[in-house]
Amino acid sequence: MSDADAPKPANPAELRARAAVLDAADPLAAYTAHFVPGDDLVAYLDGNSLGRPVASVPTALDDFVRTQWAGRLIRGWDELWLTRPAELGDRIGAACLGAASGQTIVADSTSVLIFKLLRAAIATQQTVDLDRDELVILRDEFPTDRFIIERLADDHGLTVRWVDAPLDAGITPELAAQVVGPRTIAALFSGVAYRSAWWADMPAVTATVQAAGALVIWDCSHAVGSVPLEFDAWGVDYAVGCSYKYLNGGPGAPAWAYVAARHHDTLRNPIPGWLGAAAPFSMTEGYTPAPGIGSLVSGTPPILTMVALGEMLSLIEVATIAAIREKSIALACYAIELVDTLIPAATVSTPREAARRGSHLTIDHPNSAVAVERLWAQGIIPDFRHPSGVRIGLSPLSTSFAEVERGIRALADALS
Ligand SMILES: Cc1ncc(COP(=O)(O)O)c(C=O)c1O
Repeated sequence: MSDADAPKPANPAELRARAAVLDAADPLAAYTAHFVPGDDLVAYLDGNSLGRPVASVPTALDDFVRTQWAGRLIRGWDELWLTRPAELGDRIGAACLGAASGQTIVADSTSVLIFKLLRAAIATQQTVDLDRDELVILRDEFPTDRFIIERLADDHGLTVRWVDAPLDAGITPELAAQVVGPRTIAALFSGVAYRSAWWADMPAVTATVQAAGALVIWDCSHAVGSVPLEFDAWGVDYAVGCSYKYLNGGPGAPAWAYVAARHHDTLRNPIPGWLGAAAPFSMTEGYTPAPGIGSLVSGTPPILTMVALGEMLSLIEVATIAAIREKSIALACYAIELVDTLIPAATVSTPREAARRGSHLTIDHPNSAVAVERLWAQGIIPDFRHPSGVRIGLSPLSTSFAEVERGIRALADALS
């Protein structure tokens, strides 16, 4: 490429003007009006922590209370609610996970589901091979995942094999190959890393773990609703994820779990509750699990906190995850250009290669903590991650290019 062909360095005025052009050309632009406006909101850059409420949620909640809860009372369980965790799971599976029906369920929190699946993996693997006594995880994995693995290893006399990946990346097939082997029970990895946004080569890592005879559990909290997933095609064993991030289920919304159909017969729920039993109302002695993914249900499902999730899924089903991903890439490329231009002292600690990146960015700067606190008071909301990271979450359906420009310009001021 000659110098004349090289891309011209961006300048702040051109970058600012470009936001309007990008918004005008954005096929998903109209979706930004489908969210409840915040009172003091100037720019929301934290959709990867807590997604905004869909505009139809207040009506849907009101309708749920009046028509379903008050209207049907206890009859609601038989008529509507007992099947809802699996119905919503199927919708997440079809819209976001590449999962055929009957393999995904909405339940519990992500932490509790990670515990249940890891415990189930230990039980399944040790039934066939008692020499398997290791659990694999990244040293910089999200705290809940590490805590649960350490507790389970402690309780069951197992060893944790820690994987060290660069902080601005995540798990790779090569790193996985170095630690999995004949002693591995299971490996727990993030599909998209919570800090760096590294989108793992999930099919290749899955194949590497499985080639060692181990099971893979993917934490897809930051991947679901932001990148297209193909669990069935990739041969994933187990996966879990939050629904309050890019699925906008609201604070404390229940999580989801995927268990491939081939594992259903051996799936051993460590909390065998009555509503995951084959005949919940027969009140018989002894536990016979419900068939399929339903056996992962423990106690009464939190139906009320599934309402907002259903509203967001309706938007994703129409927008499609492919179009969401395309906008996510465009938003992130624009955001990186803004950071490079306006905050040259910051380090982009997220892969610059779009194919390896989810939908958030982390930039490191020594003044991050103070800057984020100041921005929150101004209605500009990224988040801070210890020790020096500002995370910028780009939720494609609710975020405009102008919002990204406003937010990063304010961040540049606050950091300086
Ligand atoms: C990657 C990851 N895993 C697990 C969790 C924990 O989810 P929960 O609070 O639903 O247990 C989070 C929460 O943000 C997360 O980001």
